[in-house]
Amino acid sequence: MSDDSRPSPAGVLPQAGTRIAAVIPAAGRGVRLGPGAPKALRTLNGTPMLIHAVRAMAASRAVSLVVVVAPPDGAAEVKSLLDAHALPGGTPGGSWGRTDFVVVPGGDTRQQSVKLGLDALPPEYEIVLVHDAARPLVPVDTVDAVIEAVREGAPAVVPALPLADTVKEVEPAATPGEPEPVVATPERARLRAVQTPQGFDRATLVRAHETVTDNVTDDASMVEQLGLGVVVVPGHEEAFKVTRPLDLVLAEAVLARRRLNDGF
Ligand code: CTP
Ligand code: MG
Repeated sequence: MSDDSRPSPAGVLPQAGTRIAAVIPAAGRGVRLGPGAPKALRTLNGTPMLIHAVRAMAASRAVSLVVVVAPPDGAAEVKSLLDAHALPGGTPGGSWGRTDFVVVPGGDTRQQSVKLGLDALPPEYEIVLVHDAARPLVPVDTVDAVIEAVREGAPAVVPALPLADTVKEVEPAATPGEPEPVVATPERARLRAVQTPQGFDRATLVRAHETVTDNVTDDASMVEQLGLGVVVVPGHEEAFKVTRPLDLVLAEAVLARRRLNDGF
């Protein structure tokens, strides 16, 4: 089996006393992707998106535990999927040899699913990454850059990219498709599109989940609501979120390009 993830450079090694876990929310249906299996179980070049995402986290030498938050009725299926891919050919010590796995059932919202993943973390993990299963192709360098910034003391770190499009704030129409009045045009150079993995001091993220109850679309904004500093590090174009059918085409093209570059 080919392994599209790349090992971390030697610079990012586990530090004594700092254990790092990744929580992967994978419990969504993927409504925008159209009918079919839950999004995380849809395949890219024959391998489920979730497996690509787990490999992307396990590729970082610093990550020693991955908590997968499965669709509520799909935890057993996800567990056997991970077992099947973790040890190719049944040989212990495959590419996931130094990374442990836990599977827990998810909730109705992404926020609930992340909370259920955090609840399953053993106490010794001090840094936690939260990574969407729907971003299966994030490069390990991005993962390591997030970890590095948390280690340097930021309570919350998000990878992000500048925007290509100008963004307008509107008064949303009651009926989709109706013209919408523009309220403002934020200065594009000051905006960033955020990705995952987002990295956190574990205690801070747990407190954010206990305190903030509003529905939010990312974890860092909960830390912002606590009044704590959140920093952005450079994201990567391959960390895009698979949301709509065209994104599947792009993801498979990225995998094909990697295989060419890797000489497969
Ligand atoms: N997620 C989750 N639990 C939910 C909803 C979403 O764990 N109740 C996860 C998804 O599996 C995904 C990530 O959160 O990995 C980002 O969400 P999104 O891209 O919106 O995925 P879906 O909610 O599955 O897609 P859609 O909104 O189109 O239904
Ligand atoms: Mg969603």
